[in-house]
Amino acid sequence: MIERDLDIPFVANLALREKQIQQNYRPVIAVHKWFARRPGTLFRSLLLSEFTSQPLARAFYQGNNISRVRVADPFMGGGTPVLEANRLGCKVVGYDINPMAYWIVKQETETIDLRAYEKAAGILRTNLAARVGHLYQTRCLECGSEQARVKYFLWVKVRDCRNCGREFALFPGYQVAANRRHPKTVLLCADCGELNEVDSRDHPGDCSSCGKPLVVKGPARSGRCACPHCGEVNPYSDAESDPPRHRMFAIEYHCADCRPYHRGRFFKKPEPADLARYDEACSQWKKTRSRFVPDDLIPRGDETDRLLRWGYRRYREMFNPRQLLGLELSCRIIEKEPDERLRDALRTNLSDLLRYQNMLCRYDTVALKSLDIFSVHGFPVGLVQCESNLPGIRNTHKGINVGSGGWSNITDKFAKAKSFCDAPFEFHHQGSRKVKVMVPNEWIGRTRNGSGRVETRELELHCADAAEARPRPGSLDAVLTDPPYFGNVQYAELMDFCYVWLRRMVGKNAEGFANPSTRNVRELTGNMNMGRGLTSFTEGLSRVFQRMAGGLKRGSPFVFTYHHNDLEAYLPIAVAMLDAGLTCSASLPCPGEMGASIHISGTKSSIVDTVFVCRSTGHVPRRWIVRTPEAVADLVADDIRQLRAGGVRATQGDARCLACGHVIRLAVWNLRKNWHKEEPTDSKRKSIARWIEKFGGLEAVLGHLRGLSATAAHEQLMMVREPESDYGVWDAKVSF
Ligand SMILES: C[S@@+](CC[C@H](N)C(=O)[O-])C[C@H]1O[C@@H](n2cnc3c(N)ncnc32)[C@H](O)[C@@H]1O
Ligand SMILES: [Zn+2]
Ligand SMILES: [Zn+2]
Ligand SMILES: [Zn+2]
Repeated sequence: MIERDLDIPFVANLALREKQIQQNYRPVIAVHKWFARRPGTLFRSLLLSEFTSQPLARAFYQGNNISRVRVADPFMGGGTPVLEANRLGCKVVGYDINPMAYWIVKQETETIDLRAYEKAAGILRTNLAARVGHLYQTRCLECGSEQARVKYFLWVKVRDCRNCGREFALFPGYQVAANRRHPKTVLLCADCGELNEVDSRDHPGDCSSCGKPLVVKGPARSGRCACPHCGEVNPYSDAESDPPRHRMFAIEYHCADCRPYHRGRFFKKPEPADLARYDEACSQWKKTRSRFVPDDLIPRGDETDRLLRWGYRRYREMFNPRQLLGLELSCRIIEKEPDERLRDALRTNLSDLLRYQNMLCRYDTVALKSLDIFSVHGFPVGLVQCESNLPGIRNTHKGINVGSGGWSNITDKFAKAKSFCDAPFEFHHQGSRKVKVMVPNEWIGRTRNGSGRVETRELELHCADAAEARPRPGSLDAVLTDPPYFGNVQYAELMDFCYVWLRRMVGKNAEGFANPSTRNVRELTGNMNMGRGLTSFTEGLSRVFQRMAGGLKRGSPFVFTYHHNDLEAYLPIAVAMLDAGLTCSASLPCPGEMGASIHISGTKSSIVDTVFVCRSTGHVPRRWIVRTPEAVADLVADDIRQLRAGGVRATQGDARCLACGHVIRLAVWNLRKNWHKEEPTDSKRKSIARWIEKFGGLEAVLGHLRGLSATAAHEQLMMVREPESDYGVWDAKVSF
């Protein structure tokens, strides 16, 4: 039983490690990008604690088979709970309203002949390299070889001055590379464009080429930039302007011959030949009649409005002609693949590749790599963009890829993802030692790959609004999900960027692909553009919870993760639990989103999710049913102590999320007996808010927490006051 048996320090430790390098722990996620994937180790642990009798830390590393269990996930997204349940042998039903999610989970779980895939991927890379490979070559400055290969082209946005009409570049700064991964700081000369390798960023000296003083700061700041010719201060873009234009200013390349003798990376200023290669790509693209490049307009939206403000009107305008040429040719090669399964795999690869092959990618000047368009949950338009080598650069001796964002990167990680499905593993940590443990007899998919006898599993995937789902009453042993968090990620607006290409290849008759966009009025996320606020979010969530709870066996768990800093955003989930006739029997802590992820660093970040466990009937330990904010603060302190035991340092933001979780759990506990689901949504939400207010309010809990840590730093909270009894002590329990 989860409430009693989930070993929080164990799970927290694994989940934290997983979220740091998610692809190492769950390579299957590399099939295609999806946003905010929760840790697989958490969902595996939840299933094992509920359905096996061994201690979690033991069951976790063994091959398990709980095929008697049927699990549903109404919001499958990238498929984390679906994949974990399927891997344990469960019968699984998954829903998602977004056709991209549906497509991705299908690709993750569909069997593939890996040898045939690797062959097909190899043919694609070879054909592509023959057509466009030369467009990514450059001359090595060290040895003069013309065979060096470009890892990244760096581009800066340019505009014409609205006063003098002359073109100028919008440089926010002139640092091309910091001296962390490279021995020196690389600075671009603002005057002549030469690249200079300097010892000190603070005293960079003069340009080696023109002798002018080098500077680090650029002229572009806060949406404005002064024209260097006449001094007029221009905005980056005008409302009616065309899509942004770019100028190539630097290249990072790879020379296989010089590499063994060279310290650091290879940078160069583009030479005329480099510019000529780009011109060649442009003129070739002009002559090409595109069959696969989508022509779709970018619709208005909470996230897409930023693109429109920059003058982008169509998705295709977010790519340069060399990228369009390479992508079009890639599609043509893919569509010639006769085997449908392999074709779908390569189409999925192309769709995932797009995020690295567009002119919104940025260059990380410290890590010296490309940041894909989805490195934040939005469409941030930068001033300096990074174009990656399209075929990719493979170091065949070492079997690794040089640089990121090319075909070879994508197909290699796809192959790893699918081989994980055939032979999954986990990591065991002993001190600083990390041991890979193969987990025998487990596999992911509908049909087992390559095993002598045919083994199949029930896996039902629906591209549908989960509010319309009708699971047979009493057919489900668990609902396990990660619902959308109000307003956090605009899944559909972002995924349309890939969808418009994928749809062009698979056609509008493929399941879920009838509409030109993945947007759906019934998607559950706050969206100003679609007029969806907290009320429609609450109603939708409530409908889904009711449908799913209706399918659950009596007393079976309905478990979901949730994360938000704002108590308001928790009210809808309380309404949904109560409307569905569920009692919240636990709110448990577990790391979910990493502080190091770009999209939340710098904010008052919190990484810990609350895992809500709900049932129609069951037991809870008496000590969780508390009556004062002070006692809630004690429970949060307990949570933090448990996380700490798993090596997770909770921040103040985390404490706030956990406090929200407990307060919501208690509100549900106390309101469930007199709940009237037919009341208007807003008044239901208000009655929860009122209960919380009467209880003392979230701020009172936080106040007590601060009191607990008054003399210590917030992460030492738990050392100040040790709880008297253990979290797991179940001597006194209350039935519901
Ligand atoms: C937080 S994500 C799930 C992420 C997933 N657990 C993972 O780890 O990748 C929530 C998902 O809910 C989906 N969704 C939103 N509204 C929906 C609805 N009405 N019916 C079904 N799915 C919906 C979104 O498309 C999104 O994929
Ligand atoms: Zn060389
Ligand atoms: Zn210079
Ligand atoms: Zn000017």
